[in-house]
Parts: sequence; C-alpha cells; structure tokens
Amino acid sequence: MKTSSVTVRFADRQDMDRIIEIERSWVHLSHWSLDAYRRLLNEGSLTTSLVAESEGLDPGARPSGRIVGFVIFHATESTAEIYNIAVERGHARLGVGSALMRSVIERARDDGSRKLTLEVRKSNTGAIRFYQAFGFAITGERPRYYSNPVEDAYLMERDL
Ligand SMILES: CC(C)(COP(=O)(O)OP(=O)(O)OC[C@H]1O[C@@H](n2cnc3c(N)ncnc32)[C@H](O)[C@@H]1OP(=O)(O)O)[C@@H](O)C(=O)NCCC(=O)NCCS
Repeated sequence: MKTSSVTVRFADRQDMDRIIEIERSWVHLSHWSLDAYRRLLNEGSLTTSLVAESEGLDPGARPSGRIVGFVIFHATESTAEIYNIAVERGHARLGVGSALMRSVIERARDDGSRKLTLEVRKSNTGAIRFYQAFGFAITGERPRYYSNPVEDAYLMERDL
C-alpha cells in the first residue's frame, strides 16, 4: 500500500484525533463524533479505516510520517461502501486521495466485493470529478440525504 510519496496503513486509536481534525477542516463533510470513529475502528473485519502518511510531500515544512488523509469503508462479500474519505486541504491534488482509493479498491477486491459504492453531495463537484477519474458513475439520487445544510446525494458506483 505505497506510492512514491505516500504510505497507506491501517489506522489505530492514536490516529483518531488527527482524522477528526482533517474531517472538520471540510465544512461540508458529515461530522462524526470521536465515539463514532472509535466504534468504526473496532467494528471488526467489515469496516476498515486507513490513513495516508506523507513522506516529505512538503520537505522542510513538516515532518515525514504526518497523516494527511484517511478513508473509512465497509466491505462485504458482494458490495463495498466508502463511508468517508478526506485529504488535508494543503495536500489536495497531490495524489493522496488516489493512493487511498487504490488501497480501498485493492482491499475490497481481496474481500470479494464486486462493486464499490458511495454517496456524495450534489454540490461537491471536486469529489465527483475525483470519483469519476476512478471510473465511478452516478447511478441514483437520494433526496435530502444530508443535513447541515440539507442537500440531495448522488449515489455513485463502479465495478471492482
Ligand atoms: C476528494 C478528495 C478526497 C480527493 O483527494 P486528492 O488527494 O485531492 O485527489 P488526487 O490528487 O488523488 O486526484 C486524483 C484525480 O482526481 C481528480 N480530482 C481530484 N480533485 C479534484 C477537484 N477538486 N476538481 C476536479 N478534479 C479533481 C483529478 O482528475 C485528479 O487528477 P489530477 O490532479 O492529475 O488532475 C479531496 O479533494 C478531499 O478531501 N475533498 C474534501 C473531502 C470530500 O469532499 N470528500 C468526499 C466526501 S463524499
């Protein structure tokens, strides 16, 4: 689970504060409590939390090994679903999200999932473009799926 500048590894309890910090920096993301993240981390083999650590993406500015992104997904024998994915603002468009997505695809395939799904705010055009770059297509809509602010979701899917 490694690219030239980012390493992806399993998250552990000590990473939760950093995951929440990254998640909170994006106002439009659904915000989960520390307890919710801890529950997901301990849910067993179906839910997986991964973090991406930079390896000198910004040399001199910050130490290597800093968490710059995370993804949480749920995989069953038929379908895998991405619950949340986010990259630190200052590290967007550097391939961190791609490294996380490649790891999800690899692991979900290993788990036997045939399909990868997710929901995304209709207004989140950056994330939609990102998912489309990974072969996701819009396959449905979920009216008023999000709160704060209320907004519809697109359902996106790709085969694995
Ligand atoms: C969506 C997100 C995870 C993408 O991560 P990232 O590290 O910036 O993505 P990458 O650098 O790996 O981008 C890979 C490709 O996806 C596409 N892409 C990514 N972000 C994009 C954007 N804002 N606009 C258009 N295309 C985008 C591009 O094709 C990009 O390749 P390129 O940079 O060579 O053009 C990141 O922008 C993020 O954390 N957004 C806020 C949180 C969020 O909205 N999460 C989704 C919740 S459903």
